[in-house]
Amino acid sequence: MCGIVGYIGHRDAFPIIIEGLKRLEYRGYDSAGIALFDGKNLKVSKTKGKVADLEKRVNKEISTNGSIGIGHTRWATHGVPNDVNAHPHYSNSGDLVIIHNGIIENYESLKKELVKRGYTFKSDTDTEVLINLIEDVKSKENVKLGKAVQVALNQVVGAYAIAVFDKNKPDEIVIARLGSPLAVGVGENEFFIASDASPFLEYTKNAIYLEDEEMAIIKANKEIKIRKIKDDSLVDPYVQELQMNLEQIEKGGYDHFMLKEIFEQPSAIKDTYRGRMLVKEGIIRMAGIDDNIEKFINANRIIIVACGTSWHAGLVAEYIFEDMARIPVEVEYASEFRYRNPVITNKDVVIAISQSGETADTLAAIKLAKTHGAFVFGVCNVVGSSIARETHAGAYTHAGPEIGVASTKAFTTQITLLTLIALKLAKVKGEISNSDYRYHLQELELIPEKVEKALKSEEHIKMIAAKYKNARNFLYLGRGYNFPVALEGALKLKEISYIHAEGYPAAEMKHGPIALIDENMPVVVIATKKGHYEKVVSNIEEIKARQGKIIGIVTEGDVNVKKLADYVIEVPESLESLSPLLTTIPLQLLSYHIAVMLEKNVDQPRNLAKSVTVE
Ligand code: M6R
Repeated sequence: MCGIVGYIGHRDAFPIIIEGLKRLEYRGYDSAGIALFDGKNLKVSKTKGKVADLEKRVNKEISTNGSIGIGHTRWATHGVPNDVNAHPHYSNSGDLVIIHNGIIENYESLKKELVKRGYTFKSDTDTEVLINLIEDVKSKENVKLGKAVQVALNQVVGAYAIAVFDKNKPDEIVIARLGSPLAVGVGENEFFIASDASPFLEYTKNAIYLEDEEMAIIKANKEIKIRKIKDDSLVDPYVQELQMNLEQIEKGGYDHFMLKEIFEQPSAIKDTYRGRMLVKEGIIRMAGIDDNIEKFINANRIIIVACGTSWHAGLVAEYIFEDMARIPVEVEYASEFRYRNPVITNKDVVIAISQSGETADTLAAIKLAKTHGAFVFGVCNVVGSSIARETHAGAYTHAGPEIGVASTKAFTTQITLLTLIALKLAKVKGEISNSDYRYHLQELELIPEKVEKALKSEEHIKMIAAKYKNARNFLYLGRGYNFPVALEGALKLKEISYIHAEGYPAAEMKHGPIALIDENMPVVVIATKKGHYEKVVSNIEEIKARQGKIIGIVTEGDVNVKKLADYVIEVPESLESLSPLLTTIPLQLLSYHIAVMLEKNVDQPRNLAKSVTVE
């Protein structure tokens, strides 16, 4: 989704904004732009394409002097990606400029009113409507920029993070948020504005995260005033120290963030259970669960809401919670749940899973669940994110920043965390024997080492990728705990290589998908030793009989599948419930290497955004 960067202070704004926009590239975008005030003039430069294209253009088009400016990467919602629709947008007078992340839902009616009042529009965007609405309020009511922004936003329906600048008031930037993230980096006599903290991490570790329905007037002379948009009341800025460091958001020698993040999984999983799982003592402790244990064990059911890969993690969790803790679970796409008038009661516990903590549909599902009195628990990766703040309690996955659009370490750390929760509840409810519980903890502790081992198959997987990279379709099959892994494997391939892929429960194959199988269809089958092994082997026989090409994900030392499959990829043996943490690894590597061989943009696949902050 769109990325916002701004600077006001004593340094040159241009390099800070350009480098900041590059750091936000992972969010997904199709055009970029910048507005700089050089002390006399306000200049805008923007283009369809990448930040590198913008950089070239700026150098030809405008002066890069000035210590105040705003920049933007746009992920098109209203209007095609082109130079005109790119942000920043001027107001009709040319005095004001705006950058915007989000959607103004009532822009058509606002535009009609503005057209009646003589305003004209160059772009198809809702954002140009907003900046002219602000200008209209400012001139009609003869108020300062901050007040005009506030009055205008109170007429707006939708979601936004905005930064607005007035060339007649060149010592301030006005920002506001509702539904889209916005952080302010606080330096020595300088401020940085960004969609997340990555653009300003090398300048300051002090950040203020604006809350929904808040706006701020940021002045070059080190003042920041935060107000509630609705009632104008002042808010005390809460400055927090960032725990991230620069290394975490750089590629560290890998060709792509996705590959780096795949290889970070052993440490990310360890970081997720470290301090929470005391194996020798047989203890699992997590404040968010411990403080609310009654709510969990007395819950009628758990409803999991999430999107994409996080939804797949939710499906794995359904197996674990029901199997171990004997609590009924429903897993819902947040986008469906929020609109289908679901039955929710105050005896339900809702678990919202989200890497970014900003996914608009998941956030809306949480709000809906809260209005029905449900207790809502968040499983997020990004600290301080909207979902982390909107939920009653929660736990972080500690995966570290995930920059590649295709989720990898977020998935395995979500499963790790949810496994800990399930084990804890199983223990408290007396659904698991002490020895079994302790055995699970010991086995979970060994997972990082086993993931490390699974990663060693990379060269073999590369060879398989070369063999099948030109296939137009793939089928992924798995059963039980590994059915969601099949879905996840197919999603990974689709999103970064643009090859059509479907995930299915292995036994469902004969109810339809088997018709697709011929000698051109590679079928990736997860056939690890524990859990329905013989049945999956029968499914493999069925594929073989129809000349399908079989890539088996098997337990080390397997002989049966090896005899039938065209290729096998081995993973270490583990408990069935923990096997998704291992079987996922070769599927991530397979899709990564196919996409690289097809020369696709692995970290920023077309049309996709890292965090989907609009509906
Ligand atoms: O940040 P979230 O976990 O809420 O994001 C949910 C999905 O948008 C995300 O998992 C998406 O499906 C990924 N691109 C998958 O790799």
